[in-house]
Amino acid sequence: MKIAVVGVGYVGLVSGVCLAEVGHEVICVDLDAAKIEQLNQNNVPIYEPGLSAMVATNRAAGNLHFTTNLAQALLGADAAFIAVGTPSREGDGHADLSYVYAAAQNIAEHASGPLVIINKSTVPVGTGDKVQEIAETSRPDMDFHIVSNPEFLREGAAIKDFMEPDRIVIGVESDQAKSIMAEIYAPFEQKGFPTLYVNRRTSELTKYAANSFLALKLAYINEVAELCEVVGADIKGVSKGIGLDPRIGEKFLNAGPGYGGSCFPKDTLALVRTAQDHDRPLRLIEMIVSINEYRKRAMSRKIAQMCEDEVNGKTIAILGLTFKPNTDDMREAPAISIIQGLQDMGANIRAYDPKGMDNAKHHLSNITYCDSALSCVENTDALVIVTEWDEFRDLPFAELKKKMRKPVLVDLRNLYDGKTPKAHGFDYQCVGRPLETVINDV
Ligand code: UDX
Repeated sequence: MKIAVVGVGYVGLVSGVCLAEVGHEVICVDLDAAKIEQLNQNNVPIYEPGLSAMVATNRAAGNLHFTTNLAQALLGADAAFIAVGTPSREGDGHADLSYVYAAAQNIAEHASGPLVIINKSTVPVGTGDKVQEIAETSRPDMDFHIVSNPEFLREGAAIKDFMEPDRIVIGVESDQAKSIMAEIYAPFEQKGFPTLYVNRRTSELTKYAANSFLALKLAYINEVAELCEVVGADIKGVSKGIGLDPRIGEKFLNAGPGYGGSCFPKDTLALVRTAQDHDRPLRLIEMIVSINEYRKRAMSRKIAQMCEDEVNGKTIAILGLTFKPNTDDMREAPAISIIQGLQDMGANIRAYDPKGMDNAKHHLSNITYCDSALSCVENTDALVIVTEWDEFRDLPFAELKKKMRKPVLVDLRNLYDGKTPKAHGFDYQCVGRPLETVINDV
């Protein structure tokens, strides 16, 4: 199959590379000439494990190309994926669909023949109908089929998630579209990965319903963690105890500082807005959005408590800035709210992150960036783990203590059992685990 992918952001790039990997001829198109030039030299603009190597191999094999020329990309193409951003619209939290509509218009104008246009961007239910209208109005002479095929990729594990999907969801309205989609995903179906064909609106809603359900799980476990702290229960035990019930499932039950990233915050909000517009408010999800917002900022107060309720003039070391490990993505990262909260209380911030410091500079100011955990703690009054990078799992406590003004560790990802930091004389606090349960870890 010859496939064009329009939009070389995170989703477009990963999807394009993986579709090339399974044997399709893929041309990725973007308006950003500098980005395309870089990709044509095998320089990948985002950090995602395994992605650079796959770009190089598939380019060398001749089945992956990058261009700014949409007409060329569409020449003889069987299908075109739309993989552009759908950020939260400023002001009301609806998904901003202007990039999707512009891509649909451009694809229609430059199409060289009948084409299946596949929406991979996360879009509110009904967007496919609008894309169809745009395409057909622009080129009434042409045969277009609009499909919804959402992505379920996690940053940091995106290649694996694409190559070994839990499921592939495809929303189609015609047999022609279904047969093209079946051909595109044949390499995956042959390996037994489940493919679900539904109508387009079902597929569009499935994406939002999935992300909102996962966000719900996280907000719930984080609130139970709060309760654990005052009743002497251990959230790790509770998560395990409930997660072993397959109806609940073990995953996504790690308590932490709240969820962030490019998907959950924007998708929960967009679903809330869609539901309200249809007079079927999803009150649970409305609640989740505010619980999570509250939680991120509340973490700064938790840190202040560990500093004898006063951080004014004190210096706090932050380990981990990205919204999760193995990515350089800072979008909606809890670290942003936490740091701003601490700064508002008068604290000075030193920070270290293995990959996220360049991006952090666009979101945060007045921070001293450091090149290691050890240099970060220099003359600080507390150390806070915000993101669970592997290199923070085995910190050199004896050395850290020597450099710090006060040995205080706030572990917002429950990386430690408490015994080790305690043994080195640290005042230790984590999430949902009162100290006595942490020390007597079972
Ligand atoms: C998510 C979905 O998982 C993916 O299917 C969808 O396509 C895009 O959104 P992503 O945003 O990359 O992926 O990250 P994910 O690993 O799901 O984590 C989201 C947030 O939840 C992070 O801030 C993470 O730290 C937090 N999280 C996750 C927890 O706090 N605890 C957990 O147990 C799991």
